[in-house]
Order: sequence, then structure tokens, then C-alpha cells
Amino acid sequence: MTAVHEIDYGTPAAESATMVSLTIDGIPVTVPAGTSLMRAAAEAGIAVPKLCATDSLKAFGSCRLCLVQIDGRRGFPASCTTPAEPGMRVVTQNDRLAQLRRGVMELYISDHPLDCLTCAANGDCELQDMAGAVGLREVRYGYEGANHLRAEKDTSNPYFTFDASKCIVCSRCVRACEEVQGTFALTIDGRGFDSKVSPGQMEPFMDSECVSCGACVQACPTATLMETSVIEAGTPQRGVVTTCAYCGVGCAFTAEMRGTEVVRMTPYKDGKANHGHSCVKGRFAWGYATHADRITTPMFRRKITDPWREVSWEEAIGYAAAEFRRLQATYGRDAVGAISSSRCTNEETYLMQKLVRAAFHNNNIDTCARVCHSPTGYGLKQTLGESAGTQDFDSIRKTDVIFVIGANPTDGHPVFGSAMKRRIREGARLIVADPRAIDLVRTPHVEAQYHLKLRPGTNVALVNALAHVIVTEGLADDAFAEARCDVASYRQWKAFVSRPDHSPEALEAVTGVPAAEVRGAARLYATGGNGAIYYGLGVTEHSQGSTTVMGIANLAMVTGNIGREGVGVNPLRGQNNVQGSCDMGSFPHELPGYRHVLDDGTRHLFEQSWGVTLEPEPGLRIPNMFDAAIDGSFKGLYLEGEDIAQSDPNTQHVTAALEAMECIVVQDLFLNETAKFAHVFLPGSSFLEKNGTFTNAERRISRVRKVMPPLAGKEDWEITVDLANALGYPMRYGHPSEIMDEIARLTPTFTGVSYARLEELGSIQWPCNADHPEGTPVMHETAFVRGKGRFMITEYVATEERVNGRYPLILTTGRILSQYNVGAQTRRTPNVQWHEEDRLEIHPHDAEERGITEGAWVGIVSRAGETTLRARITERVQPGVVYTTFHHPESGANVITTENSDWATNCPEYKVTAVQVLPVFGTSEWQNRFRKFTEEQLALLQQASTGARP
Ligand code: SF4
Ligand code: SF4
Ligand code: SF4
Ligand code: FES
Repeated sequence: MTAVHEIDYGTPAAESATMVSLTIDGIPVTVPAGTSLMRAAAEAGIAVPKLCATDSLKAFGSCRLCLVQIDGRRGFPASCTTPAEPGMRVVTQNDRLAQLRRGVMELYISDHPLDCLTCAANGDCELQDMAGAVGLREVRYGYEGANHLRAEKDTSNPYFTFDASKCIVCSRCVRACEEVQGTFALTIDGRGFDSKVSPGQMEPFMDSECVSCGACVQACPTATLMETSVIEAGTPQRGVVTTCAYCGVGCAFTAEMRGTEVVRMTPYKDGKANHGHSCVKGRFAWGYATHADRITTPMFRRKITDPWREVSWEEAIGYAAAEFRRLQATYGRDAVGAISSSRCTNEETYLMQKLVRAAFHNNNIDTCARVCHSPTGYGLKQTLGESAGTQDFDSIRKTDVIFVIGANPTDGHPVFGSAMKRRIREGARLIVADPRAIDLVRTPHVEAQYHLKLRPGTNVALVNALAHVIVTEGLADDAFAEARCDVASYRQWKAFVSRPDHSPEALEAVTGVPAAEVRGAARLYATGGNGAIYYGLGVTEHSQGSTTVMGIANLAMVTGNIGREGVGVNPLRGQNNVQGSCDMGSFPHELPGYRHVLDDGTRHLFEQSWGVTLEPEPGLRIPNMFDAAIDGSFKGLYLEGEDIAQSDPNTQHVTAALEAMECIVVQDLFLNETAKFAHVFLPGSSFLEKNGTFTNAERRISRVRKVMPPLAGKEDWEITVDLANALGYPMRYGHPSEIMDEIARLTPTFTGVSYARLEELGSIQWPCNADHPEGTPVMHETAFVRGKGRFMITEYVATEERVNGRYPLILTTGRILSQYNVGAQTRRTPNVQWHEEDRLEIHPHDAEERGITEGAWVGIVSRAGETTLRARITERVQPGVVYTTFHHPESGANVITTENSDWATNCPEYKVTAVQVLPVFGTSEWQNRFRKFTEEQLALLQQASTGARP
């Protein structure tokens, strides 16, 4: 699919079910009531000239270029602000209209630099197009009078330039920032001739509230707001529609290209997850794909103290396969395994688990979802019957009460965060449960009705208290619960949550949330109309992560907030393909489609297809692999796209495990922290260099399309195929579409999915099968996937990670908008300008008590380890709680986190670590060792092509 320019219909689509018929330039047109004349004309193929209108924004009616004539009406109304009415006869072109439009254009052009031929937007400028469209040939006013031609450029933003001399003050940028992004960073300053666009209080973009989402750049019809990449490389020649490889929103983009070079990523209007919007990561932070640090030649070495040696693909893969076979022959079949990543495509993760099960002959496959959303899989399967969120993102348009628990959408899922803010501005009410004041709690035109500022680690107690209020105050939807859910489990659960020890008053001492606020929030969620819960890693990454997920499902069931638009239980997935990697059987106990390896029927199905006998016992989870490596029974690991040495908890334990293994094969883009312990490096491909699919948080499967050849010569799925063949297990695929065909053949929820169908529909939300041939936006509509919904008892058990005199503060962690997880990609882009280092947020009271000042170095010590960061003093965190991000490896945030984990899934308890924080003068011992080891490994990498044969 290619597209550089999508049709701009001028105004947004109207949603009315009532249709109106009219004629435009003699052509009969039928459109939903409320459609503007401009859009009705565009839908009939008639382009009315326009400047201030664009279909992502409400009509504004300021430029007067879109005038039309309507039979029986006086004057010339603006077509963008005039709704279509039955029987109207509209004329869009005649001499009078042409003359009026030329007059308008003449005024604009007389205050515009006439450097079209050398302008970066030449050929991609609506002002230029409109001058042509209205037949403007001369400008009578001259350029001598007052004008804006010498206005200064603002180049403070690394990704776009603001050249005020080209601004026509159409306010599309201002409206985009308000309506689409919801940041309100831009204003029109001054009046009349003096009016001009200004970020914040006449500040440069980088000093303003701007979050660099690019919505204003996209909306600008001139070269005023322009991507720096286009200014430098020239306008694009072709476009390929693909999917963002960062977060679980799964935004669709057109990769706009000149030859094999990406010039711009433009959010795709038909993308069903993003509707043409983006955030700074997907829109701008793609330069890592061609960063000089990319490793593009396979390498190996026998010991991690040896220099790397560049070798052919055959040699590297042959060496890896021989090593895995040697380790299995020496230490047993279970001595090797693999970890796949949610950054990989569905097809890649499917092949990884197939390789492990069919070629390693064990089930030692796990994925990074272990450390993020495995409790979602478990908790939702137990209660609702399916390990996935229940809604599509658009469902929020019908939500009346938005309940955000342990998620920070404006940083972690920014495009959906904008959709949330829009809905709140339209009147939906908001409850936030979070230890920290995330942006959503108060941001322009958005304010949470309740911010339940709970203590980290007390989610279950809070959820039980909310349920207590709903049940004991008679707010339950008994009719729904008794008809749709298992009645015995419902009654048992009601008795459980009704216990006095679950009242908000009784639990106030545990959660720290005033009882009155819990009561108010529970009442609002239960009675405020459609209530939808959105949650993130602040729910799952706890010792009781799975319990909270079940508690959330209980809340939705008891209030009847499930099974229709506007409601539901919605896990906000961190990485681009967390949903997909789990769907594809990446856990050691499950084959694709969440079917247990113990299930004979499922195993036989795969055995027949794959031509092997499969092991019925679940394999090792990631933490078990580490323990087994340290014990000496686990010796070889194949990792694709996963940097466990930075992302997993208790770094020192992880690196000890890595050091204990004899063959670590890393398939990645860069020499990441894990690759510094590797013996074989297989250079992987970025999302721009391969074909495949990602599945976002709403179960939406979208195509990833190759826009440039893989820098190392192979797409990742090809590398896995080659490794399987070298291991003696034949894999034959000509294209990832064939892998998807195999997935569809073997997985009931994917039966209807194919690349041809994706081409046709754009994207598909699974389940997609004979019952749902076009996919399933909302699940559990008439019955739960497991038949009857099951209420689960959610007893609160305090984490073992308690504060005491030695470790008196709780450390909790999170992400920031500009960086992505371990930062391997975003740190290699100008996004570092927003976040050069991880800092420790500490409340002024705790800081003062310790003599800590803003920006001072502090040591953070836990039972697991010690690191140092600079302090940021802020009331965003409550007293007793400190917070940091984990995007920079040298910060060592995971040196401090412990191995405590969720009781059901082993998801680490990243969100609760008891620590002490004190002023320090030097870096920690671990940081000193880290720096030395990094220097040594980079030196060994430099010797790659010249080093001695290992
Ligand atoms: S910067 Fe662009 S979008 Fe904004 S007012 Fe000027 S011309 Fe219009
Ligand atoms: S980039 Fe986004 S946040 Fe910044 S001014 Fe433009 S629309 Fe607003
Ligand atoms: S919201 Fe997520 S998917 Fe969308 S552009 Fe940003 S990082 Fe990419
Ligand atoms: S496009 Fe209608 S008034 Fe500007």
C-alpha cells in the first residue's frame, strides 16, 4: 500500500444516522446530516479551495477561500462551516466565486515570501496549491508595505522548524494542539495584522509546554511548521503504510521515502488506533534505524573476554547451532532456551517458540511480557476467559467515567492519552488511582474528580474497598451479574467484599487513601454511566499483580460495565507487540492462542503440523532460567530483541546468570547490555527493514511493511529460519505471510486472518474467524469467552517488601514520554534532549530531612543493590515514596529492584522496592564496575574485524 497524500475532506465526518440529499455542481450527493458542504463536495470528488480547514479539525471559517453559492440564499457562505441541507443546490465554481477567491489569495500572497522554488515545501504546500487552484497570476498590492517577511525562525525543536515569515495565521496549528493533542501549547498572540502564532508565553518551542507530537506540523498548510528532515533531504517521493514499533497503541504511519531513505513519518488518517495522530516517538524518533552504532555484520567469540570476530552469516549461525547442540548433548535437552521480545513481529515470535519447541525439543521459551503484562494474561483468563483487553480504543468515545489505575497514558500511551483527554473535555469524568500525580490528574482543561493517591503495593486493598462500597451501598448491577456470571462465585465474592475489614474506613490505614474519596470514586464508577477501566504496569508489576487484575475484572462485572461500547477492562500494553507476543505462544506453558502445552488435543494439532513430538511439561520462565544458569544446569540462551541485562530486576543476579552460561546468542540492532555478555551476535533488522504484523493493546493486528532493505541483509524471521535449519529442524517460508497462514491454520482466534485480508480491511481485531469475519472490536458482548464470568476472591496480602528503619522509603518506577523502555532506540535519537538522564523524584519533606537539594547526587540503596542518581525535588510524589525512570543503563534502576514477583506469573515487583536515599559524592561500586566493563566491551567490539581468531 502506498500513499504520500491522503484526501483531505476539509472537515471531520459527521456521525448522524440521518442522511440528507442535495446537489453540488449538478451532481447528486447524499451525506449524513451535519456534514459540511465542503466535505459533501469532497466526497463527490469536487475539491473546494480551502486554507483554514482540514478534516482533522472542527471547521473554523476564517480564511474565506471556500466560499460557495447556494440557490435561494444571499451572499457567499463558507462551505466549511455550512452544513448540507436536504434539497440544497450548491455551486462551487463560477466567475464571481473565482474572483472573490483570487482576492483572498492575493492578500495572503502579498505578505508571503515568494521563494517557492527554493522553499522546502515546494510541491507540498497548500498555499501554493491554492494559488494555482484559484488561478492567481499577479499580486496587485506589491511587497513594499508592512509585512512579516523578516520574522525570525525558531529552530529550537530538533525535529521541526517554525518559520514565522511564512505563516498565514490560519490557526490550524493552534487548533491541532488543542483539539487533537490536547496540550494547548500554542496561542495566536496579538490582533489583526499583528497577530502571530506563539508557543507558550512567546517562548521558543523547546521551552514551552509543547510535547513535540507533530500535530501542528501536520496541520500547517504552509512551510511555516516543517519537519527538519524534509528541509534537509527534500520532499518525499513515495509512501508505505506501516505500524509504529514503539508502544502498544500501534499507530499507523506512512513512511515517506526518497529512494531507500525515510524522510518523514506521517501519521496515517485511516489508522484505526490513531486516526492520524502521533507522539514524538513514532513521528520523529526513527533515526536510530540508521544510527552509526548499528551492527550489520554477524560476529562471534568463544569467551566474553575475547575480541569479537566478524564472520559470514553461515559461520555465525553454524557456530550458534553447533554450540546449542553441544550444550544439549553435554548438559541435557533442557540446558538451552530462548527469550523473545514484544518488539518483534507476531511472525518472529511465533517462529522463536516454534524453534524452541520443535528444534530444542523443550518448552524453555519466555518473553518480556513475563516482566510486564503476564498478570493480565492470567487474571483476565481466570475471570473473563480471554487474556486480552475487552474494547477498541474508539470505545472511549462512549465512556462517561474513565478510571485509570496504575497507568500514565500521556507518557506511556500518548496518542490514546490524547483521546482520553478529548473525551474528558467533552464531559467524561475521571478517576485516577496512582501513588504519583501523573499529568492526567491536572492538565489544561482536564482535571480528575478523584486522585486516589494510594501507597505503592496496596492496589488489592483499594480495589476491595471500592468493591465493598459498590456492594454494601446497593450500587451493584445484580441483574447483569446474575445473568452473565457464575452465580455461586458472585455470591461468595459479595460476602467476601462486604466484610467490615474491606470497608474504605478499615483499609484507609493500609492504602493511605481517605475513606470518603474511596466512597466517592466507587459511587462515581458504579453510577456515572458507562465506566471503563484502563490500567497499566502500576497494576501488574506487583507481588499481587494477578490479584489486582482479577479485582478489576470483578469491579467491571459487578457494575455491568462490560460487553458493550464505552465500558470494559483495558490493559494498556507497554510495548508495541505485547499482546501479539503473548498470543503467539511465547510463554513456556502455552502454545499459540493461550492453549496449555498439557492439553493433548492442542499438542497433537501442532505435532501434526510441525512433524515433531512436543514436550507436554511447561518449560522454564525467565527467572527460572536465571536461577538454573547460576545453579549450572542452564547453559545456552537465544535472545531476540530483548535486553534482559537492563530490563529485568536485580541486575546483578541477571548478569551473574549471563556470565554462568556458555553460549549466549543475541539477535539485535545494537551491542546492548545483554550483548556485552554474548558469544554470538546476529544483526537484526528494525521495523523499517522487514515485513510482518504487530498486535496492539486493542487486539488489533496491523501490517508492518518493509520500506528499506535490511542493513545486515536479513529480516529477523529469516535469521530464525536459518538457525532452525542449522539445528536440523527444517523451516521453509518464502514470506512472513506464509507464517501468518500457518498461525491462522492452527489458532482458532486467528482463523480469518491473512495478509490478503489485512490488505483489504487495513487492520483486524482478533478473534477473527467464521463467527467474526471482520474481527471483534468489543468482546464478551452476549456471553463471556469462558461462558459465565467468574468472580475471584482477592484477598489482600501485603508485599514482603516492607519499609523499616534501614530502608524507610518506597521506590516506584515508570516511563517518560520521550524515552522508550531500555532506551536503546530513543537514546540514539534527538529525544535525549528531553531526557538526558534518569532522575530520582523525591518529596520536599523527605529531601529536606536528608539534606538533599535539587540536582544533587543521591545514593539509593535497597536489599538488592545500590546506585546513584541526581535528585529532582517535587510534590508529584507523596512523602515516603521516591520515583525514577529506567531508560539509561548507567542509572542502574534495576540494580536496586528485587526479585519479589507476582504469585501467579512471576512478573517482577518493579513498583515496590524499600530503599534508603542519602546524599553522596561519588558513583556506586556497581556503576564503577559497569563503566569499566562497558569500556572493555566497546574496545573488544572495535577490534571486531581485526581481532585474532577466537
Ligand atoms: S504556523 Fe501554519 S498552521 Fe499555524 S497559523 Fe501559521 S500557517 Fe497556519
Ligand atoms: S508539536 Fe504537538 S504539542 Fe507541540 S505545539 Fe505542536 S501540536 Fe502542540
Ligand atoms: S503513541 Fe505509541 S504507537 Fe503511537 S506514535 Fe507514539 S509510541 Fe508510536
Ligand atoms: S476553508 Fe472555509 S473559511 Fe477557510
